[in-house]
Amino acid sequence: MAARRGCARSDWQVKCFGSNMLQVYRAYNNPMPTLKDYFLLDPNVVFLNHGSFGATPRPVFEAYRDWQLRLERQPVLFLGRELDGLLGEARQALGAYLNAAADDLVFIPNATHGANIIARSLELAPGDEILASDHEYGACDYTWDFVCRKTGAVYVRQPIPLPVCDEDEIVERLWQGVTPRTKAIYLSHITSPTALRLPVEKVCERARDRGIVTVIDAAHSPGQIPLDLQALGADVVFGNCHKWMLAPKGAAFLYVRRELQPQIEPLVVSWGYRPTPETTTGSRFVDILQWTGTKDPAAALAVPAAIRFMADHHWEAVQRESHDLLRQAIQRICDLTGMPPLYPLDSDFYSQMGIAPLPTCDLTVSKRRLYDEFRIEVPLIQWQDRQFVRISVQGYNTQADVDALCSALLRLELYNTHGHTPALAGGARELRFPTR
Ligand SMILES: Cc1ncc(COP(=O)(O)O)c(C=O)c1O
Repeated sequence: MAARRGCARSDWQVKCFGSNMLQVYRAYNNPMPTLKDYFLLDPNVVFLNHGSFGATPRPVFEAYRDWQLRLERQPVLFLGRELDGLLGEARQALGAYLNAAADDLVFIPNATHGANIIARSLELAPGDEILASDHEYGACDYTWDFVCRKTGAVYVRQPIPLPVCDEDEIVERLWQGVTPRTKAIYLSHITSPTALRLPVEKVCERARDRGIVTVIDAAHSPGQIPLDLQALGADVVFGNCHKWMLAPKGAAFLYVRRELQPQIEPLVVSWGYRPTPETTTGSRFVDILQWTGTKDPAAALAVPAAIRFMADHHWEAVQRESHDLLRQAIQRICDLTGMPPLYPLDSDFYSQMGIAPLPTCDLTVSKRRLYDEFRIEVPLIQWQDRQFVRISVQGYNTQADVDALCSALLRLELYNTHGHTPALAGGARELRFPTR
């Protein structure tokens, strides 16, 4: 299997080494390259932060550059006459991956754009409420705050305290924020600061009964957990392909349920606002959002290559292995700090990105030391009055990366300067979770 330990020869290896060189490579480098060798990441850095901006494997990056070269050969042909068809094919591939019709999806540069398009499209009146959790991504919180200030609507951030152990409890907590003025619910599928998978399917089902619009921020979902846009049941979903789907930066999507599409307005008005029979894609939703002026579309066009890469490398198995490694990392850090985990470690509240609590410390100093002294790239996060290390485990990570993080945290001595009991002297305090 093409996983951490080694993998079968693939096209890019032949491309990179040539078939003769490949034999030489094989002779001197047995076993064959690991999944890590596909990535362009600095080998001197322990990279445990896939969650922030993703990372792209070489074959996908080559596809991206091939698209850029093709554009530069004949820009007018490519952008003027071929692009709509090529983007249509890429939307077809993404739609097949996410179980949505190609015309219900449009490429956007990133999830932040998705939040902005939707927040500005909703017709909000003074007193209307947008309900969210207190785990949302800061930039998108700002988007809603900005729009609410302009319209007189109210952005309500309902607290979902940690630890969590039960999906229904989360739904109930959120629902305490619903009022007759609730116009839309905005929720992350997987949250950014707390890496928590929220039970959005249950929320969408309940919201539908009340006529509340649901907007799901799936920035971290595709490529990390199964994402079926039909089954999810949301009115709107936006997400990134450039995080866990391994696509180049600048590849994201916006999905809107067909009945709601007439309400959507473009952030940037361009030619699709008044398409001709020759220029229309056949969908007004796609027309108004797809072309926003001259730009480089290569990242979106490389999305099918990213989907192919995951299929070629048995990505479900990679996801499972990554999850197991992450679970071990969280457990070891909890043992080290003597602090209990924030969700049951045998649950699916997390997948390849998770948090372990840290005792109170100066996060700026600790973060700087982790990078400067140990070359570890991992986010340390302040959320409410809690502090975490947020660990991402991707196919290129190994046991050695987790060992390096645990030993660095031990060397930072976070645990015993703040009165917590390290595992070495007694083990993690136990938090009891009902079996799910
Ligand atoms: C939950 C969530 N939403 C939105 C975003 C924004 O993504 P982008 O920077 O690609 O717009 C992020 C980024 O990490 C995120 O975690």
